[in-house]
Amino acid sequence: MKVLDVRDQAHAGASIVEAAAVLRRGGLVAFPTETVYGLGGNAADPAAIRRIYEAKGRPSWNPLIVHVAAIEAARELTMRFTPLAEKLAVAFWPGPLTIVLDRAPGVPTEVSAGLPSIAIRIPNQPIARMLLEAARVPVAAPSANRSTELSPTRAEHVSRGLGDAVDVILDGGPTRVGIESTVVDATGELAVILRPGTITRAQIEAVVPTAAGSSVSDLHRRSPGQMERHYAPRARLILFEQTDEISSLQSVRTAAVTHTLDSIDGVARTVRLPDDALQYAAELYETLHELDQQGFAQIAVERPPSGDAWEAVRDRLGRAAHRG
Ligand code: TXA
Ligand code: MG
Repeated sequence: MKVLDVRDQAHAGASIVEAAAVLRRGGLVAFPTETVYGLGGNAADPAAIRRIYEAKGRPSWNPLIVHVAAIEAARELTMRFTPLAEKLAVAFWPGPLTIVLDRAPGVPTEVSAGLPSIAIRIPNQPIARMLLEAARVPVAAPSANRSTELSPTRAEHVSRGLGDAVDVILDGGPTRVGIESTVVDATGELAVILRPGTITRAQIEAVVPTAAGSSVSDLHRRSPGQMERHYAPRARLILFEQTDEISSLQSVRTAAVTHTLDSIDGVARTVRLPDDALQYAAELYETLHELDQQGFAQIAVERPPSGDAWEAVRDRLGRAAHRG
């Protein structure tokens, strides 16, 4: 595994060209997007796709997101770029929105884990855009972590989690958004939100007609990656409203993550995050990675507020806390 420092974009050209060549040869390149780091492989190359699944230990039924530099390239991956998709793309691309559409016949079925659909995104991150332009192939890229673990927001998280399973890591510094994109199914008449993200339901509804919230079983069928336990640190994560709900404080080395409380009695370390949803999301995984590194056995997280802006944060923390 080779780490290329591209934090200085003005001098990133040679590294981008090198990484693009690795992609074109069937290798795996981890790269920053605005959300989290992705583990990229050539979406047109079934062997590269298989390597992605292996590197992540990802179940073969969980489909990947394909990243492209321009909307023309996105259209070519689909059977029909629907009116809904047009509106969503105009409003939110490049950006942290993934659009699910019917897959074009030429695209390897491995990318979509055999589903008839395909998930596509144009990221809004200069290094990612330069890489996609240089590679001149669509790049399948799930988050660059082992399956079910925390997504990486820094190059070090990728190298720690995936090691030599990845050929090149482009280190572009910490990511800006900090949690994964909003995923929207735009195949039909109504948009269906499959995974909440920092582009909120209200923002989607302002642009296209949107189905009301789907049931969990419906989501599983439509988006098999929505496993219940996911996005989890190594430490046991619990959510609390009142500090007396934090159990086993005496026996277990515990850290707390709050957004209203300054410090909590009996807890070895309290990290207070911003009480703005976007700023909170930007720091959440970074904080959980750090607390894992410090060896805490338990992380007690103050339950995030209700409301549209916090939906994605509630979703990720709910899954991270899920057991069994
Ligand atoms: O922000 C992001 O989306 C990051 C960056 C790297 O782009 N990527 C990411 O990928 O989070 P991943 O593979 O960790 O999550 C992809 C999600 C999964 O929940 C998967 O089930 C869903 O998108 N998905 C992918 N293809 C799909 C499809 N054809 N139909 C429905 N859901 C799909
Ligand atoms: Mg992921």
